[in-house]
Amino acid sequence: MVTEVEHRTVEQAEGKLGVLLVGLGAVATTYVAGVENVRRERAKAVGSLVEMATIRLGKRTEHRSPRIREFVPLAELSDLVFGAWDPIPDDAYESCKVCGVLDAEHVEPIADFLRSLRPMPAVFDQQYVKRLQGTNVKSGKTKRDLAEAIREDIRQFKKEHGCSRLVMVWCASTEVFIAPGPVHDNLAAFEQAMTDNDPTIAPSMLYAWASIMEDVPFANGAPNLSVDTPALLALAEDRGVPVGGKDFKTGQTMIKTVLSPMLKARMLGIAGWYSTNILGNRDGEVLDDPESFKTKEESKLGVLEHILQPSVYPDLYGNVYHKVTINYYPPRGDNKEGWDNIDIFGWLGYPMQIKVDFLCRDSILAAPLVHDLALFFDLAQRAGMSGIQEWLSFYFKSPMAAPELAPEHDLFIQHAKLKNTLRWIMGEERITHLGVEYYQYDRA
Ligand SMILES: NC(=O)c1ccc[n+]([C@@H]2O[C@H](COP(=O)([O-])OP(=O)(O)OC[C@H]3O[C@@H](n4cnc5c(N)ncnc54)[C@H](O)[C@@H]3O)[C@@H](O)[C@H]2O)c1
Repeated sequence: MVTEVEHRTVEQAEGKLGVLLVGLGAVATTYVAGVENVRRERAKAVGSLVEMATIRLGKRTEHRSPRIREFVPLAELSDLVFGAWDPIPDDAYESCKVCGVLDAEHVEPIADFLRSLRPMPAVFDQQYVKRLQGTNVKSGKTKRDLAEAIREDIRQFKKEHGCSRLVMVWCASTEVFIAPGPVHDNLAAFEQAMTDNDPTIAPSMLYAWASIMEDVPFANGAPNLSVDTPALLALAEDRGVPVGGKDFKTGQTMIKTVLSPMLKARMLGIAGWYSTNILGNRDGEVLDDPESFKTKEESKLGVLEHILQPSVYPDLYGNVYHKVTINYYPPRGDNKEGWDNIDIFGWLGYPMQIKVDFLCRDSILAAPLVHDLALFFDLAQRAGMSGIQEWLSFYFKSPMAAPELAPEHDLFIQHAKLKNTLRWIMGEERITHLGVEYYQYDRA
């Protein structure tokens, strides 16, 4: 049934989709190795809505719940090809071994496939990721030259692999904190700053610019600004390219964006929320640098403020002590442990506590998000949706939203938004969960 709007014209997902990954570390290799294992029917794509979830259509009495994949035209797994950039020259096989996320049973049988994915030289500058040293790095006189070299890589990849479409996902390290400034305000200033080698133009911004210039959707899985500047958003709008970010919402923040709406829904107060993590992978090492951690901290801290609305509920949330730390602890590798201690209060102000101990696997949680984002950003482009894809906030810790809007952080509102957007794209009725039509409330 079509209400309110007709469905959008969505081009079919024909031909190969090239997924260009910036960074070929733990998340990226866990993703590509995962896709190959699923393609060979050696494992299941657990955690991916695209591959696993259904979507209810129409009235509850209609019993229509196709898989998302059957409902919207998405790239087939067999049509995906992968490219990557990384300053570390390891191919995906070596990188899998170094990162140590996957067991041999998911690496060795696909070793040929993984070895064939070799990273292109990266645009990398240690000034922005202090704890890394790279040898597989492009050189150029200006940042503009480097960005043009990324554009050339994109064109070359598309041609070599016979792709009909491409998407780019930033899976690279978190860069040092950069506040948006005058050079990010408009495109002319941004492009001049690239030529002038301005220090506030980070490599992630060059990838984002190159991606948009090549009409390739760009999703940012890390908290650094990258595409989130007025200059690049305007460019994306002008060129009709979907963009979004920031920072994959995986472990602790996923839990935070479920528990805090629960407490708020019941009007229970919060006195403090103490979150800490131990993590021993390369990401943990990079985040051990205070400047990179600051970028991550901003992303992790913003969540509660937005969900709890302390200015609207000063009695409940006006004085929340919120603390987040990440401790680099090598023995745990990718198997992060995240603790939360939440001091809450109820009726008449009586205190209570909630403790959460999440023994998770960072890249196992992140890999399906990369997959869904790659396929949904490609869908957005074929559906003619340009600029910020707020409907994909579900996947991000710091979701980008139009400047006049507060971002939506509540996981279940984000989930409803995502599914309603798919219904809207395909011209199906949006679901409000009102449900009065099943009862006879309007009898006199
Ligand atoms: N795993 C999670 O749960 C999760 C959640 C949210 C965000 N993230 C973010 O995702 C990113 C990737 O995480 P990871 O665990 O794979 O880290 P990782 O350190 O294993 O991989 C990152 C890779 O990016 C490369 N890199 C750094 N700068 C680059 C550049 N300029 N161009 C190309 N490559 C570059 C590094 O050499 C490294 O190989 C990090 O920024 C992390 O903060 C991860």
